[in-house]
Amino acid sequence: MDIKLQQVSYAYAQGTPFEKRALFDVNFAIPSHTYQAIIGHTGSGKSTILQHFNALLKPTSGEVHIGDRVVVAGKKAKDLKAVRQKVGIVFQFPEHQLFEETVLKDIMFGPMNFGVPEKEAEIRARELVRLVGLPENVLEKSPFDLSGGQMRRVAIAGVLAIEPEVIVLDEPTAGLDPRGQKEIMDMFYSLHQERGLTTILVTHSMEDAARYADNIVIMHEGKNVLSGTPREIFKDVQTLKELRLEPPRIVRFQHKIEKMMNSSLSKVCLTEEELANEIAGLLRKERAES
Ligand SMILES: Nc1ncnc2c1ncn2[C@@H]1O[C@H](COP(=O)(O)OP(=O)(O)O)[C@@H](O)[C@H]1O
Ligand SMILES: [Mg+2]
Repeated sequence: MDIKLQQVSYAYAQGTPFEKRALFDVNFAIPSHTYQAIIGHTGSGKSTILQHFNALLKPTSGEVHIGDRVVVAGKKAKDLKAVRQKVGIVFQFPEHQLFEETVLKDIMFGPMNFGVPEKEAEIRARELVRLVGLPENVLEKSPFDLSGGQMRRVAIAGVLAIEPEVIVLDEPTAGLDPRGQKEIMDMFYSLHQERGLTTILVTHSMEDAARYADNIVIMHEGKNVLSGTPREIFKDVQTLKELRLEPPRIVRFQHKIEKMMNSSLSKVCLTEEELANEIAGLLRKERAES
């Protein structure tokens, strides 16, 4: 399901003395089945944008296309339930929204709310609890007896249980230890690949954006200022500097090497393997020439 933002502006508390404009003419498109990262400093509008992806917020001007639905500023949009079922959002610190007596009931809540029969919802919960890396015996426990990392996984399972076509992740690994972060990011990546889930990741992590995303959009003060493949984005060192954004560690390392060699490699490398291959290629070339 494609998502498209056209000239989207958004103001909180519009028409009141507290009015706060958060988005200014934002334009970009996310094709089905792609992995999109949205990056920017705190306050740049990332969380405001992502609430437009399932019409939790409606633009104050412009249009949001969600599959074949169009949400237009100033017009009432009916029957958004279908949209909410297709676009699942994992909010920042989603564990704050757990509320049921047991993990099982919590994961089943979403699908049952969308009319999935109880039996089917339970089957999904039992499958998902394993998929997010938890033992099945947590299902009968209270979510509040789990560790923070486990609660995060339960909350994620709850969103996956509605079987969305698009999954939107707002800093999904914030506050987790490095191992938990990698496990969760790898899990979302396999879901993306195996089930063709369109994935939209809001992150501070250039490393994650470089590793997983097909495309990156950079937000700055409520505007989309740069977009492209990770290679294109990390090539544009000057713009990143102006935006005070650090490229990933591997790209910074490449810059160091290029400085030492006083020449540029043929491409921006996104992984250690790529960088090693580029350098090996240079060595072979030098040997052939000497
Ligand atoms: N509920 C709100 N009411 C008023 N202003 C808000 C609200 N939520 C966010 N903002 C403001 O909107 C701007 C964008 O915020 P946000 O989308 O949360 O950015 P990010 O997720 O990139 O940190 C910021 O200036 C923020 O202070
Ligand atoms: Mg945010």
